[in-house]
Amino acid sequence: MHHFEYGSNGSMSAEGVDLERIAEAVGTPTYVYSEATIRRHFAVYDEAFSGHPHLICYAVKANTNASILRILAEMGAGADIVSEGELFRALRAGIPADRIVFSGVGKTAREMAVALDAGILAFNVESEPELHLLAEVARERRRTAHVSLRVNPDVDAKTHPYISTGLRESKFGIPIGDARRIAAMAKDMASLDVVGVDCHIGSQLTSLAPIMEALDSVLALVDALAVDGHHIREIDLGGGLGIPYDAKKANPPLPRELGAGVIERFRGRSERIILEPGRVIVGNAGVLLTRVLFVKQTPDRTFVVVDAAMNDLMRPALYQAHHEILPIRRVRQVGGVARPVEVSVASADAPAAESARAVESVGLHESLEPRDPQDLQEPKDPQDLQEPKDPQDPQDPQDPQDPQELLHVVDVVGPICESSDAFARQRALPKVEPGDLLGIMSAGAYGFSMASTYNSRPRAAEVLVRGEAFHVIRDRESLEALVASESFAPWLNEGGAA
Ligand SMILES: Cc1ncc(COP(=O)(O)O)c(C=O)c1O
Repeated sequence: MHHFEYGSNGSMSAEGVDLERIAEAVGTPTYVYSEATIRRHFAVYDEAFSGHPHLICYAVKANTNASILRILAEMGAGADIVSEGELFRALRAGIPADRIVFSGVGKTAREMAVALDAGILAFNVESEPELHLLAEVARERRRTAHVSLRVNPDVDAKTHPYISTGLRESKFGIPIGDARRIAAMAKDMASLDVVGVDCHIGSQLTSLAPIMEALDSVLALVDALAVDGHHIREIDLGGGLGIPYDAKKANPPLPRELGAGVIERFRGRSERIILEPGRVIVGNAGVLLTRVLFVKQTPDRTFVVVDAAMNDLMRPALYQAHHEILPIRRVRQVGGVARPVEVSVASADAPAAESARAVESVGLHESLEPRDPQDLQEPKDPQDLQEPKDPQDPQDPQDPQDPQELLHVVDVVGPICESSDAFARQRALPKVEPGDLLGIMSAGAYGFSMASTYNSRPRAAEVLVRGEAFHVIRDRESLEALVASESFAPWLNEGGAA
């Protein structure tokens, strides 16, 4: 579940903080994260594997903010890193080195040296040349590198091709058929100790079957390695569990379903399970707050132009990913009276009706666990948000229960000079006006961490909410910061004009 809900004033809050308040104080676009949601997701995931020794190495790439890493460090998480930069961030946030695994298909000698000196738990080695380089770097530094062989089990994860990593044609991992030969090679290298086998078949997985298929192949390999005289202590299943992005689609499996399936396979086994979840921990813990700049009407379409863009959240442009887009305020002041958001142009298509239900019930957007009665209040019945109708008022809205009446079919686009800069196409949304705030939901994972400054747009601010408090955990990038590491070549004229 998450903690973004409409309050009795008709405005969406993150935990106890009204998102409008954050937008006023910090501006837009801004990422807002709920600490309670992150803590809950980590706890639920951890609990799912509690029946077997395990370590959760949060995939830092999903969201790298220092405060978020600190929360996870406090909860006992390790880290799955893919660069020296992520190692630096993880250690700085207080994640102990001996809980850090280093993934990635292209580690440099320098990165290996830094990680070895830090004393990380294991290198997830993805190729034979990488193994040789690691052995050499470890030898030079008179250290032993712990190696977990990342194998490619040739399993179709049935996710978007760009986030599918377990097929034989993918760049990731050692073909599983080569793993015994490469492990034998590693055994002869004194500076290496093969301690584990690792796989990660992809991200946003919506079915458990491919993970289980991969696990079965990995377990068979581990048994074969035991016969070959290896002592495998750790089995790393990577991350990948999907989250509900789209209220119209079936929810992905819950962590406890994944945990139950995995633990069943580990019955009678002594290896520790390592997991590398990213999205499932932080994805639904973040919202990208954006303000409507213009509503642009063309003969064919209505474009809602917002102040966030693909440089802030590139998932829709990169993967055609779906994010729910919700109005932050469901009630607008009309002549001093609170009204539900505009009721006008109807759209007759079925997806519009579905979308209306999503809009009306942000609670549909939940993940992970059935709602705990102790948690924040249930989403309000839409009728609770309406003022009594005034029969004298010709502008009095029609029945807002009728989803057909709530919606306009629009494209929600950003200001960047690329046609791919769209957050939604032909999406049914409640009517919006310039100045309105929208929440692009489920933006906590691969949102800010993939942001760029394309079009020289300073990167968005990030805010963390805990209960009634909020804090800017990353300032909006300044124009000075945008150019801070650039310099004028000395042969260029001062002042520009030749
Ligand atoms: C090696 C590895 N582990 C873990 C993850 C995290 O995946 P997810 O965020 O889907 O859990 C990734 C994502 O790309 C990855 O490449």
